[in-house]
Amino acid sequence: MDSVDIQADLTKVLHTEAEIHTRIAAMAREIEADYPGENLLLVGVLKGAVMVMADLARELKLPINMDWMAVSSYGAGTQSSGVVRILKDLDSDLSGRNVLIVEDIIDSGLTLTWLLGNLRSRGAASVEICALFRKPLAAKVVVDVRYVGFEIPNDFVVGYGLDFDERYRNLRDVAVLAPHVYS
Ligand code: PRP
Repeated sequence: MDSVDIQADLTKVLHTEAEIHTRIAAMAREIEADYPGENLLLVGVLKGAVMVMADLARELKLPINMDWMAVSSYGAGTQSSGVVRILKDLDSDLSGRNVLIVEDIIDSGLTLTWLLGNLRSRGAASVEICALFRKPLAAKVVVDVRYVGFEIPNDFVVGYGLDFDERYRNLRDVAVLAPHVYS
């Protein structure tokens, strides 16, 4: 789905599909330089990270493995609470592995802070984070992120895996959702 197909639902395109692909390619070059010849394990966090995982994994000129986790924050409302529950755990044993968590967005930072601690307690050689988007103005905790694609404003954004009420994940661009859609 293209932004033009749902123009009335959006106020602004923040990053086009082409810009995202260019940035992911640059991040892949950094990752290749940091993990020469390593058998890296990419851990995607469902569901938002599906698109970035698919594009980053194919862009990397490295042998990699892919695994997935699904987590959910406890608590009411749409805000992350920081108390996280595992809905689907990894299939892989992390002992001695170099792990790269692949995320679509860091908002409050609470989910990734928890995830980093959880995966680091499993005996991995290293655990780092690659996030396509980060909202600095929404941060409640500072997360140690090795690779960040774009810093974006604290707006309601959708597309490229990011949803509102499970919609818009298949939008190619990342765009700001019009207030009339969610208010
Ligand atoms: C989003 C995103 C991160 C988390 C970031 O997932 O993919 O996992 O929120 O928020 P935080 O920094 O405030 O903790 P969400 O819970 O919306 O699930 P989804 O990936 O299935 O859309």
